[in-house]
Amino acid sequence: MNGTSPLPGRRACHRLATVSRTSGADRVALVTGAANGLGQEFCVALAARGHRVAGLDVADLAETGRRVADSCGGDRFFGVRADVTDPAAVTAAVDEIAKDHGGPHIVVNNAGTYPAIPFEDTTLDEWRRIMRLNLDGPFIVTQAALPHLRAAGWGRIVNIVSAVVFLGPPDMVAYTTSKAGLVGFTRALASAVGEDGVTVNAIAPGLTRTTTAERTVGADGGFDRVRASQIVPRVEEPGDLVSTLLYVCDEGSGFLTGQTINVDGGSAKH
Ligand SMILES: NC(=O)c1ccc[n+]([C@@H]2O[C@H](COP(=O)([O-])OP(=O)(O)OC[C@H]3O[C@@H](n4cnc5c(N)ncnc54)[C@H](O)[C@@H]3O)[C@@H](O)[C@H]2O)c1
Repeated sequence: MNGTSPLPGRRACHRLATVSRTSGADRVALVTGAANGLGQEFCVALAARGHRVAGLDVADLAETGRRVADSCGGDRFFGVRADVTDPAAVTAAVDEIAKDHGGPHIVVNNAGTYPAIPFEDTTLDEWRRIMRLNLDGPFIVTQAALPHLRAAGWGRIVNIVSAVVFLGPPDMVAYTTSKAGLVGFTRALASAVGEDGVTVNAIAPGLTRTTTAERTVGADGGFDRVRASQIVPRVEEPGDLVSTLLYVCDEGSGFLTGQTINVDGGSAKH
């Protein structure tokens, strides 16, 4: 686990937490892929909402810990190193979170990969690698965490998919298939767990400015091409997804389940 220490900015965060406590904050949230990009942004946002946040990643989580500490103090975030495709490691991580912090009550299945590869060049190994991380990962993490959500009689599972499920870009057949599978997972799982007060929803970002996106699909004019297809005439930023995440996780959103919410500046209209 990565310890963090209280830093300035804590008061502002606590004011937010006090406001949100009226709508039932103070849950324990597990966010996968928390070391970078969207996952890091989600950790900061959930901590600012008043939740304690467990960030899980194969990569070092110190930067996420620092960002949460900068805005909320050091007692809101704890990092756990684990590979979401390794069932034993995930079970151990979830058990550790439950024992040390309680919960988890909120699970954000965010870790994923989104390579652009022409269909003809996609090897079976690459196809399986994408499915393993983007589909097996959420399955493994959700199965490990679900008993804790059920035991609490309250839970929020949020799967990060992509606007590609509505758009079907030609160079992302494997990726689109994996995220469309996660949409199906969202719908069917919502039916399976709804009676226990657990909701399951998906959020579909468009191309969003993270370091990985800038290095890969956003390179060579990718951001300009996607922006041209949007209604909102600017590049999507990680912060553009925060209000939707908090809405889906909110205490008052118990009647919202099985849905995929598209947040892509209006590229896909469905
Ligand atoms: N950025 C975008 O444009 C965009 C658009 C739509 C959807 N998404 C989805 O959002 C999610 C996050 O995207 P991002 O741009 O922040 O990616 P990112 O590469 O910045 O972050 C992904 C994180 O997942 C971690 N990770 C990778 N494999 C892992 C494993 N086996 N176990 C645990 N952690 C692992 C990485 O270390 C990294 O910290 C992905 O699921 C992606 O498909 C991103």
